[in-house]
Amino acid sequence: MKIKGLDELSTLVSLCKRRGFIFQSSEIYGGLNSCWDYGPLGAQLKLQVKLAWWKAMTSQKNIVGLDAAIFMHPKVWEASGHVEGFTDPLVDCKACKTRFRADQSIVDGNVVCPSCQSDDLTEERAFNLMFQTQMGPVKDEGSAVYLRPETAQGIFVNFENVQTSMRKKLPFGIAQIGKSFRNEITPGNFIFRTREFEQMEMQFFVTPGEDEAWFDIWKEKRWAFYKTLGFNEENIKWHEHGEKELAHYAKQAYDVTYKFPFGWEELEGVHNRSDFDLSQHQKMSGKKLEYFDPQTQKKFLPYVIETAVGCDRLTLAILCQAYREETRTTEKGEDTRVVMGFLPKLAPYQVAILPLSKKEPLLTECDKIFENLTQASSHGTQDLRVDFDITGSIGKRYRRQDEIGTPLCVTYDFDSIEDKKVTVRHRDTMVQERISIENLKTYITDSFSQDAQWGL
Ligand code: GAP
Repeated sequence: MKIKGLDELSTLVSLCKRRGFIFQSSEIYGGLNSCWDYGPLGAQLKLQVKLAWWKAMTSQKNIVGLDAAIFMHPKVWEASGHVEGFTDPLVDCKACKTRFRADQSIVDGNVVCPSCQSDDLTEERAFNLMFQTQMGPVKDEGSAVYLRPETAQGIFVNFENVQTSMRKKLPFGIAQIGKSFRNEITPGNFIFRTREFEQMEMQFFVTPGEDEAWFDIWKEKRWAFYKTLGFNEENIKWHEHGEKELAHYAKQAYDVTYKFPFGWEELEGVHNRSDFDLSQHQKMSGKKLEYFDPQTQKKFLPYVIETAVGCDRLTLAILCQAYREETRTTEKGEDTRVVMGFLPKLAPYQVAILPLSKKEPLLTECDKIFENLTQASSHGTQDLRVDFDITGSIGKRYRRQDEIGTPLCVTYDFDSIEDKKVTVRHRDTMVQERISIENLKTYITDSFSQDAQWGL
């Protein structure tokens, strides 16, 4: 058997559309550049990604969650440095009118147009990436608000609220998942870089002086998280930011990068933000944001270790890593199947129920199995995400489930009426087993609890 991973992003884009993961936004109107809609399977996959992250963060004793508003007081963005400094260098080509980022089209030390290679360009100007809109019915200077370009600031401005209401002592963290918006000059590569995206950010507040040790601890924890998602260590690596790369707020920064089909790119940033944000907000708001340490009886501004990952980008990496084509030589020639090898905890559907025929009593019996698998029971078995597919030959239905990454298929046939057993077919090995219906749910949950045997 030959196994091939994903070479071209376009292969994944078409699978995502064909199988209901991701569609182009407003497609019937010709689409909107770099905007994407998550279909039924994509929405579920992304939700599982968020749940994995949320659980990994908030199941720790010293981390709590938050869900702040997208609109924030405009002064927030002055304090954070985004009004002044959240810009990209923008250049227009006078020859072909292409607009592009100057820093992304440098050939032999000179900026040239990426479209026609002309060097007849306008002067470089700073283009602010924040989207601006207005709040309320009157458009004047005071009504301008921004769509947040990062979720982090919602955490900083709530530091005091969370710390006092939750009676937290340092060190502790605040985790948040939410939409962010950036008017990127060059979005692209499917859901990798878009203008509207979701972030999963955690700010960990520590005593100054302990920040470097915590930075290392968080690097380790984040690496471990990627391993629990089944990432192959050959496809992820750290990238340390050099001095010129460091964001205006960062004292130290490392990125987790992933080997996408278009190259190694950033997935997540781990930053030491020092007390930059809290001290800026303290200055700008006039409100004291210091922490009182009951042991030392001292007041100070905590330092912050931040972990920030794009949910869409992580979902893309999971899709890329899950994709494989398996080719077998059979009597009829070469046969290729596409498999999305998601871990059971991430798969949009964990089980598919496939009645062999639409005849009764098969459908009614399958309905009963569906009910049983999708509901949590009082004796501790979990609810599962289950598809119910009655369309097409059984072989075609297996292939569809392989392509949407369903780990197990359950087939109810005419023998099942007599022997009260079903065929369980495993996505990765294609091995089939007869399992009694009575034990089916325990069999499934037991096999999922051994995550390691699965692909991604
Ligand atoms: N609070 C820090 C911060 O926002 P960042 O490196 O600018 O740091 C964090 O963003 C993560 O958000 C990135 O590693 C990436 O995964 C995701 N991200 C940033 N811009 C994005 C975009 N335009 N489209 C999709 N994801 C994006």
